[in-house]
Amino acid sequence: MNQEVAEKQIVLSGIRATGQLHLGNYLGALSRFAEMSRNPAYFGMFFVADYHTLTTLQEARLIKYHLPNIVLDYVAAGIDLSNTAIYAQSSVPQVTELTWLLSCLTPVGELTGQASFKQKSKQQPDLINAGLLIYPVLMAADILGVCANFVPVGKDQQAHLELAALVARKFNHQFGEYFPIPDALTGEMITVPGLSVPDTEGRFSKMGKSDKNTINLSDTPDEQSAKIRACPTDPQKVRKNDPGRPEVCPIFQLHKAITSAEDIQEIQTACLSGQLGCLECKARLNDHISTTIANFRARRQGLEPYKAQIVGDTLAAGKSVAAGMFRTTLEVVRDKMGLVRY
Ligand code: ADP
Ligand code: TRP
Repeated sequence: MNQEVAEKQIVLSGIRATGQLHLGNYLGALSRFAEMSRNPAYFGMFFVADYHTLTTLQEARLIKYHLPNIVLDYVAAGIDLSNTAIYAQSSVPQVTELTWLLSCLTPVGELTGQASFKQKSKQQPDLINAGLLIYPVLMAADILGVCANFVPVGKDQQAHLELAALVARKFNHQFGEYFPIPDALTGEMITVPGLSVPDTEGRFSKMGKSDKNTINLSDTPDEQSAKIRACPTDPQKVRKNDPGRPEVCPIFQLHKAITSAEDIQEIQTACLSGQLGCLECKARLNDHISTTIANFRARRQGLEPYKAQIVGDTLAAGKSVAAGMFRTTLEVVRDKMGLVRY
């Protein structure tokens, strides 16, 4: 690591190569990565978590398709490449060695008790692989391997981040101070809801790659507005001027994620009173989304013809930085834990 990087706080995050990125990924992750990478107090480490991908997606063709697209999405999001390493997780296999070392410090109850483990085991009961269980330890190794200070993630990853902090504290306590305790930092963690109606208990599901409820960053403007128009709203608001119930409407939930506080207030009042029809409300949401991702879309389109070159160069440079950091960490950790090189 060069001297300049050594003096900065490390910001690290990853996205799995499970599908096309969507608005939730953009607002919860990508846009924050870009913002933090432009802050000279930080150095960004952003990767595609292809090892993690294998816990739920085991189609080589799809992983190989998604990974370069996500790298290009990182670049198009405006991440400052002069102050960031972008890499593929599996190009730094040292992370798996660190995973083993940290797994020996992780109480198994912390893993079986993770909400995401329970949920995924329910979703794929015929394939509860061991990778799914140790998923958070691999994530802790991603974070601690580069001694990350900050980890911008959506709210769904909060428990994983807390586990990484726990493992870091445990290591420091048992073997001597080494790891900084990672923190989410970027203000409030958000969850962008999907284009789907609430469950029987009134809960909205998050926009998620595998949930078929996404607005993809790669959707054309027509695809985007068609998805929004097709989204169900309050079933009791049949005619345009019927009073609506914003709290049960997925369109209103999305407004809350993307529209200004002032407009949200106005939309809520106008929906409740029956002044605002669903078509108009959806058109406004569509405009807000388009405006928010307009720059991303334009840049992404401009980069597409040069994809192979940009992805190759970016990943090669990123791998070299990340591998250097992991080597340094492993040297210290191996020694502190009693492993010697003969
Ligand atoms: P997905 O849940 O769609 O499979 P990932 O798990 O790969 O996406 O998430 C990548 C990043 O995007 C993580 O930081 C995650 O917290 C964030 N993220 C994913 N979905 C959302 C969402 N709906 N709202 C906010 N952040 C999200
Ligand atoms: N588990 C994260 C997700 O599903 C992806 C991820 C893997 C990650 N390793 C990480 C995020 C390290 C932050 C830091 O979204």
